[in-house]
Amino acid sequence: MLRIAQTLDAQLRVAMERAFPQVAAQPDGPGFDPQLAPASKPEFGDFQANGALPLAKPLGQAPRAIAAAIVEQLQGQPAFTELCLEPQIAGPGFINLTLRPERLADEVQLRLGDPRLGVPPVQGAAPVVVDFSSPNIAKEMHVGHLRSTIIGDSLARVLEFRGHPVLRLNHVGDWGTQFGMLITHLKQVAPEALSTADAVDLGDLVAFYRQAKARFDDDEAFQTTSREEVVKLQGGDPVSRQAWQLLCDQSRREFQKIYDRLAIRLSERGESFYNPYLEAVVADLDASGLLVTDDGARCVFLEGVSGKDGKPLPVIVQKSDGGFNYATTDLAAIRYRFAAAPEGDGARRVIYVTDAGQANHFAGVFQVARRAGWLPDGGRLEHVPFGLVQGEDGKKLKTRAGDTVRLRDLLDEAVERAEADLRRRLAEEGRSEEEAFIQHVATTVGLAAVKYADLSQNRITNYQFSFDRMLALQGNTAPYLLYAVVRIAGIARKGGDLAGGEAADAPLIFTEPQEWALVRELLRFDAVIAEVEEELLPNRLCTYLFELSQVFNRFYDQVPVLKAEPEARPPRLALCRLTADTLKLGLGLLGIPTLERM
Ligand code: ARG
Repeated sequence: MLRIAQTLDAQLRVAMERAFPQVAAQPDGPGFDPQLAPASKPEFGDFQANGALPLAKPLGQAPRAIAAAIVEQLQGQPAFTELCLEPQIAGPGFINLTLRPERLADEVQLRLGDPRLGVPPVQGAAPVVVDFSSPNIAKEMHVGHLRSTIIGDSLARVLEFRGHPVLRLNHVGDWGTQFGMLITHLKQVAPEALSTADAVDLGDLVAFYRQAKARFDDDEAFQTTSREEVVKLQGGDPVSRQAWQLLCDQSRREFQKIYDRLAIRLSERGESFYNPYLEAVVADLDASGLLVTDDGARCVFLEGVSGKDGKPLPVIVQKSDGGFNYATTDLAAIRYRFAAAPEGDGARRVIYVTDAGQANHFAGVFQVARRAGWLPDGGRLEHVPFGLVQGEDGKKLKTRAGDTVRLRDLLDEAVERAEADLRRRLAEEGRSEEEAFIQHVATTVGLAAVKYADLSQNRITNYQFSFDRMLALQGNTAPYLLYAVVRIAGIARKGGDLAGGEAADAPLIFTEPQEWALVRELLRFDAVIAEVEEELLPNRLCTYLFELSQVFNRFYDQVPVLKAEPEARPPRLALCRLTADTLKLGLGLLGIPTLERM
């Protein structure tokens, strides 16, 4: 109901100006803000406007009297009385607004034929970069990367749906000291891995990486060789380059398997991409007078961020040995992403989805980029942090043997458990289904459960991973939502025409409170999408879809649909159809496909 809210906001402003021309005439006066918000309870109507209250002081009048004067001016606008019933003044001076039932029905009608379900597309938008997933080469992708992948994909989908050109970037860790260590170690213990594709598998590579790291930490000669190896690689030495390429390809293929399973699209643009731009970052910062040399390292001191000793903290951009680091690469990336095409991406908004542990890193590089003047007017840099994934014991997620959980195993287990649940249910219900059906449903439900469990949490808090909870048929879970869609598909199978034929020309007349509750819930969709777009919180969409399913289930349990009176049947079928469309679209924006039967 965003459009209606905009109309009401404008009408309220006109009413306020007419009621209090003396305020309208004051250039530095309090001005008017209707403070329009959705009603906090259904008995208050659809919206409430609290804008009378802040005017009490400047006008020296009682807020209820101010509200009454605004209402009188509202009632004088025909466009308003066509839209709303008579406003009610409540409490200290709130104005409660209730839309006319026929207008609500009109809104439902508009959405029935609209694939966007009332969500307006943005026009002429500048690109948005979503930097997500971003695992590290030669290391296993872990649950933190899974969270980033799921949350980032969902945000990208919402932004794309709104019409923003979205660049989904996988900023993989494919550069730096770790390669020096790994290549040096492999040259000694498994040289074939550096010249032949797939000579070792990723699991071994991860083990080699751990060994290399251990050697690096306590063997000085090894450290020196590793550093020389990095310099060779970064300098373009063909042998090092080839080794690096092989290692990257191998990890990349493993990552891709996870992305394929989860239907995630991503463009890889790893840290190495920015290598040619690192010098320019330092030069640029130097030219803008931000660069300070401290103990041989070149850095920018942050404003308003100090360490324990009270001194401002630096962002180091070039180490004393001349090497660049993670922050330098991120600075080069920011500069590139905001730079106008064709030199850069021409982005207006750049979003980073990583664990909350990197908050200080991003706050630092964002500040440096701003002070360096790399952001265009209205340019936005946003870190989207998330909490840790914990086991049911509240500790870091581990296998029973105490190892880190491999993503592949985690997804497999979700699907296996979904399959076991399904077979149990089929047996209970005495149903027999084809094997292909069972596999399809188990895969869809298992993966949906993992994604939804993650997205439905407020991402900032840590989240406890529990197969039992995420696969439950009751509660705020993927199976519960998928089941609501299945239930509606069942109505069609039982002869209800959901495609619109039966409901197409019939006037939408609703009589039951359960119908109105569902209408109002359905019409909230556009506002929820706008909120997710702004606040980057997918759990808002999850909560909405959960509530919609609950309101729908209440409606369907309490009001006859297929057995309704002839004139009540088409509008009720129309509500079923719009509910299914909304759930499918909403789940789709979370990256979750739906089922017709389960
Ligand atoms: N590779 C990093 C990690 O695994 C995440 C990179 C996030 N993106 C960025 N532009 N820094 O923690």
